[in-house]
Amino acid sequence: MKRIIALLGSPRTGGNSETLAQAVLRGAEERGYSKNIVRLQGMPLGGCIDCRKCWSRGTPCIIEDGMAEVHSKIHEADVIVFATPLYWYTWSSQIKPVWDRFLPFVHEKAAWDLKGKEAILVATAGDDKVDAFDGLVFSFKTSCDLLGINHRDPFLAHGVYNKGDALKGKWIARAEDLGRSL
Ligand SMILES: Cc1cc2nc3c(=O)[nH]c(=O)nc-3n(C[C@H](O)[C@H](O)[C@H](O)COP(=O)(O)O)c2cc1C
Repeated sequence: MKRIIALLGSPRTGGNSETLAQAVLRGAEERGYSKNIVRLQGMPLGGCIDCRKCWSRGTPCIIEDGMAEVHSKIHEADVIVFATPLYWYTWSSQIKPVWDRFLPFVHEKAAWDLKGKEAILVATAGDDKVDAFDGLVFSFKTSCDLLGINHRDPFLAHGVYNKGDALKGKWIARAEDLGRSL
């Protein structure tokens, strides 16, 4: 059975990015995927401290915080959904540490890495224009390429600002279709 994990990067429980990520998961479940959800808000997750000690203790990172759990759940997954609200035209601070702490997976001594996994970006923004996501999309695609992660076309829901806005229009149906396309 294939496995999909959603990393929820919003501080808002039941917010727009979570609502759409859940819709992607529903579609994937219809295709036989098993799902896992990690709510990053509230987890003890620090940024990379550039100690250059990746894998020195056998694990990806020597920092003892919640990232060990995130790493091991990502290791088990075939597909990773990165769900984030657009904050100042980039990642939320809840999800950014996950990217910073991917450094072990470009290390020459990596015991395992992220190559061949599939990634989906699910992002929401209050801005009406889709080019508001340009910086985020560049970060996502370029980082995936460097890590050897295959990425789908990003799912970018614009013009959604208040909680519940993602339920309006066709966003949910499109997100479910995306999940079903896996
Ligand atoms: C701190 C903060 C920064 C934000 N920055 C942007 C931004 O740069 N561009 C934008 O269009 N919306 C911005 N927004 C609006 C959110 O992206 C929008 O409300 C989104 O739907 C929230 O998703 P969520 O419900 O999953 O948290 C910002 C909101 C907050 C709280």
